[in-house]
Amino acid sequence: MISKRLLSASEYIKGYNVLADCGTDHGYLPIFCLENNYVTKAYASDNKEGPLNNAIANIKQADLEKAVIPVLADGLSYLNEEVDVVSILGMGGRLIISILEKAPLDNVKRLVIIANSENEQLRDFLKRNDWKIVAEELIKEKAKYYQLQVLERGKMELSNFEKEFGPLIIKEKSDIFKEMINKQITNLSKALSLTTNSESIKKIKNRIEVLERVIR
Ligand SMILES: C[S@@+](CC[C@H](N)C(=O)[O-])C[C@H]1O[C@@H](n2cnc3c(N)ncnc32)[C@H](O)[C@@H]1O
Repeated sequence: MISKRLLSASEYIKGYNVLADCGTDHGYLPIFCLENNYVTKAYASDNKEGPLNNAIANIKQADLEKAVIPVLADGLSYLNEEVDVVSILGMGGRLIISILEKAPLDNVKRLVIIANSENEQLRDFLKRNDWKIVAEELIKEKAKYYQLQVLERGKMELSNFEKEFGPLIIKEKSDIFKEMINKQITNLSKALSLTTNSESIKKIKNRIEVLERVIR
């Protein structure tokens, strides 16, 4: 069975035509999407030979060589006009930005993204490039929290806090979200008890206040 992260992402790929999964590593996401007829074809790309060879072996084992095409490429430079949905999962936000900046996305209707970090910068970039968040999920896997975001063409307005945590994730206020924020508050409170610098105390208190407000 694929991971919770990949399973959740696959739900937002269902019904599109051709998927490009960038940074595919093992290739599990495109393989799962094809096995379940979520798309008719997929590209499984990675910029390193080792991970791509893992994907190639898994594609062969799944007997999907005609439908899942492995590609050795940096980012999404290989995109063609048949690709209508792109997934980028498990990379840092800045790396995802650098990939999207160079990608020929004209025919892409939907992006499915899980950034491991720097979500604030990533959402800011997506907003400035006329992508609009249509769905979000906060996923907990192996004690880590992952923000899944799904985007289509359009405009959006976001506060700094919404850029950091996701407007729909904040709105939903799920138990996982409250748990994540409460953990941050606990860590900040510990740091506060060890700090003597008045500037740092002010900053930490301010951050705690903002975090408390967001889960209220
Ligand atoms: C942590 S793995 C994530 C694998 C899978 N997407 C997942 O979420 O389970 C990140 C993968 O991205 C690949 N990668 C890193 N930079 C890349 C780039 N510029 N273009 C394509 N792939 C890249 C790495 O080689 C690695 O296989």
